[in-house]
Amino acid sequence: MFYKEKHINFITSLLDAQGHVTNVLAEHLKMNGLYWALSALDLLDALPQDEQRDFIREFVFSCFNDDGGFGGAKNHDSHILTTCSAVQISAILGFIHELDKDKIVEFIASLQKEDGSFTGDRYGEVDTRFSLCATLVLSLFDSITKINVDKAASFIKECRNWDGAFGQVPGSESHGGQIFCCVGSLIHLNRMDVIEKDKLIWWLCERQTESGGLCGRPEKDPDVCYSWWNLSAIAALNATEAISTEALIRFILKSQDDEKGGIADSPDNVADVYHTNFGIAGLSLMHFPDIHQQINPEFALTERALRTVPYLSHRKS
Ligand code: FPP
Ligand code: ZN
Repeated sequence: MFYKEKHINFITSLLDAQGHVTNVLAEHLKMNGLYWALSALDLLDALPQDEQRDFIREFVFSCFNDDGGFGGAKNHDSHILTTCSAVQISAILGFIHELDKDKIVEFIASLQKEDGSFTGDRYGEVDTRFSLCATLVLSLFDSITKINVDKAASFIKECRNWDGAFGQVPGSESHGGQIFCCVGSLIHLNRMDVIEKDKLIWWLCERQTESGGLCGRPEKDPDVCYSWWNLSAIAALNATEAISTEALIRFILKSQDDEKGGIADSPDNVADVYHTNFGIAGLSLMHFPDIHQQINPEFALTERALRTVPYLSHRKS
């Protein structure tokens, strides 16, 4: 049983009248938290309307900085993770055309380093998560050529390990979350040739545990969020039939809170907005019948939201 109405109540109860999720998340996670909440509500056909939607729009604009990036909250420094969430929220709520596209693209391009990698902000940490945020936002704005595409792809290639999977930076451990980031980046960069498809699909399938749930690294416990990180890569590689979707669906459904709604990282744990969103997104990837919106594995947005993005009007879903 899928507790759709309870999940809608769980998420909407986390949003205050102004559309903020501050009461459950630290200040710097406000923007990311809003993306998780709105993405889940979009998948459940329950997006906020009218006044609350306008408050969220105001909040997003209030986090925009002069350098062209968005902070996690008002007066916070720009970061590529929060910029990505801000742009995704704008796509979900239909105001992406109101953003200063040129300045955002300039901000993203300014974070690319000589080796093709991206830093998260002006302080210099590098991670393939940031490559995904950069390429996802540029792709949404149809502006991927504003960065050095070849170098961006060769950096991702450097992060590919002997097992066909990907890590955070060259030489770091293969991890399901980074696979989502690297596969997505390569799709946005139109450089799928960097993927050793058979090896990678094999690695991803090996992450299905006896419980049906997927884990992020060998020998780790299953966690609902990998029903998004791993499965989105599997879906993008058209290999969903290589895992048992029935068993994975059962694991996600078991991780629901059947009283208060929401989904936890695993059965009997406490539900949170992050795992609720990625659990529902995973169910959408598996065409679970109670979810009517289709999630796109590269953009982590519904096909409905993507259809409203004017810069993608030439795209076929
Ligand atoms: C696991 O994190 C997940 C990752 C490392 C990938 C996160 C990717 C982003 C933040 C990029 C932007 C995201 C989207 C949806 C556009 P974890 O810290 O939970 O890993 P653990 O299981 O090792 O604790
Ligand atoms: Zn998790």
